[in-house]
Amino acid sequence: MTASSSLRWFIVAALSVCATVACGAGDDTDSSGGWTTSSTGSGGSSASSAKQFYIDKVHPTFDLNCTYCHATGDNAAPIWAHNDAENSYVAIDEYGNLITAPSNSLLLLQGEHAGPALVPKQKDLVREWLKLEVKERGLSGSGNGSGSGGGSGSGGSTISAETALSQISDCMNLEVWNGTMAYIVADAQTVGWGPCRGCHNTGWAGAFLDDDTDLMFSQTKKLPFLLKWVTAKIEDGVFKDIVPAHRFANKGTEKCTHEDETLCHPNYVLPPSVQDPLDDFVNETIERWKSGTCDEPYDGGGGGGGGGGAP
Ligand code: HEC
Ligand code: HEC
Repeated sequence: MTASSSLRWFIVAALSVCATVACGAGDDTDSSGGWTTSSTGSGGSSASSAKQFYIDKVHPTFDLNCTYCHATGDNAAPIWAHNDAENSYVAIDEYGNLITAPSNSLLLLQGEHAGPALVPKQKDLVREWLKLEVKERGLSGSGNGSGSGGGSGSGGSTISAETALSQISDCMNLEVWNGTMAYIVADAQTVGWGPCRGCHNTGWAGAFLDDDTDLMFSQTKKLPFLLKWVTAKIEDGVFKDIVPAHRFANKGTEKCTHEDETLCHPNYVLPPSVQDPLDDFVNETIERWKSGTCDEPYDGGGGGGGGGGAP
């Protein structure tokens, strides 16, 4: 019941956004002057059309279901927004790596997490806005710079965060999943609220944890669940690497600022018997992705030894 009350915002937010975004007509507005500098000072006056689009179209929707955490930092949310539209634009810009090509922006990739996913109409608006930014700022269209770290396998072509996440998803191997027993995080205990899977077996808040380990594996490969395991590192708007997300490790001890403590997430610390398998799976998968060995048999990771040839 704690869980269901903490989830009230899912419903409230979804409804109110629908009321304004989905159900409110979407008129076009963007006009106004040209872009001045790419590094928006603080109190901008000569608005670019991308900025104006944010202020007129995007911010009002963020204000409904994002800013109450992301403007305040409540419940360990990173502060990238502001209640005021102009200031919010500056905050998003300064936070970095959110104003990028759509396929590199966590604003679009994040999906359901501790906060709600963007509703479809909101997603369209954000995509449209980011495309305007790409044009005005001359940002790279999808991603540029070195691909992943190592990599003999795939060509050195540059990829977007979205593409990299889909590659790492494809690289998740059931044999590695079972071999590392990464799934046992579903059985980890919280303080007073039982195991994770008791609440997360339908994927609440983008964390899919179930005792059906095959189902959990197939869900883990999908967004937004994937992002609780690994995430994309973006630098200067460009995709750099896939890195461990550490959401399961961190969630249990993050500061809760709800006045009503019953709305806080249950506390927990993952014991090594859970953390190690989880790390093994994530690290092994990232390594395989980098070296293009996703489909090789899993030898238990332990000793070195010669891995066999490819089938
Ligand atoms: C109930 C509080 C809450 C709400 C509401 C919320 N978020 Fe979040 N958000 C968080 C927390 C906590 C994190 C950090 C943990 C994580 O990455 O999931 C986060 C992380 C993020 C990140 C990742 C930032 C980074 O640098 O990794 C993005 C992007 C994001 N949220 C977007 C949104 C959007 C867009 C909305 C509105 C549709 C939203 N959030 C609503 C709590 C919230
Ligand atoms: C009593 C129900 C309940 C239990 C048990 C529970 N959770 Fe959650 N969890 C929630 C709710 C509700 C949310 C969404 C609100 C929030 O983020 O606090 C959530 C959100 C999350 C998130 C996603 C949000 C973020 O900040 O990234 C992660 C990860 C997570 N839980 C991990 C765990 C793990 C690991 C366990 C077990 C050790 C666990 N949870 C046990 C109810 C529960």
